[in-house]
Amino acid sequence: MLLFDSGVGGLTVLDEVRKLLPDAPIIYASDNAGLPYGSKTEAQVAARVSGLLGRMTERYHPRLVCIACNTASTIALGMVREVLEVPIVGTVPAIKPAAAMTKTGVIGLLGTEATIRQAYVDRLEHEFAADKLLLRYGAPSLVEAAEAKLRGEPFDCAAITEAAEALRAMPGGDRIDTVVLACTHFPLLHEELSRAFGPEVTFVHGAQGIARQIARLTAGQEWSRQVLDRALFTGRGNVLEAYRAMLARYGLLGVERF
Ligand code: DGL
Repeated sequence: MLLFDSGVGGLTVLDEVRKLLPDAPIIYASDNAGLPYGSKTEAQVAARVSGLLGRMTERYHPRLVCIACNTASTIALGMVREVLEVPIVGTVPAIKPAAAMTKTGVIGLLGTEATIRQAYVDRLEHEFAADKLLLRYGAPSLVEAAEAKLRGEPFDCAAITEAAEALRAMPGGDRIDTVVLACTHFPLLHEELSRAFGPEVTFVHGAQGIARQIARLTAGQEWSRQVLDRALFTGRGNVLEAYRAMLARYGLLGVERF
């Protein structure tokens, strides 16, 4: 199975997939040459994602592709499903479970700048949270913070506090009790986000639901691992070395360029 993200965010989905399907061979693809997707236009993201997934599925013939990225999914899921024959599972903001959990009726949504402006998010809000207040905030610097954290480098905690303060400062923001982490990178900063928002806030993201959906779609299929699970990176330069030890902790023992 192929898991695709612009960077290391999709590892939060990989973690949950492993729990349900430990024998499923994984190729994890990071389009780090295109990172960050959040500051790109819809056309740029759609072109990269469909082009890369087309070439990757042709080369590796995965049984299933998971777009483990909210930005790519909310922009390009429909288009990619139309052009590829393989089943595609997307990652979209967990507004539905958040709406079921909130007691105050006020939900914060942290995503990339591109994700929070998508009509896909408007539709989820309309369908599942029409009677709630959904406050959206684009937090691009959290993507870089998560990448740095996984490289074992110091990262900017001030950006995390700023994101929490910005949501709190919006009208009604003082009543936020549930925050949707609408970017797969953000659960990697769970501890720091919990500190910034305080103990009364619950975080919701889609990784477990996505893993369950993948398990449902592949139910009854036999999995066997012939080669080591690996990570593909589209970027050049020696940055891959910085990620190698962390990737091994996720069971991704091979690291290649695509
Ligand atoms: N991990 C991606 C997401 O879920 C986006 C990060 C980025 O490339 O900006 O939205």
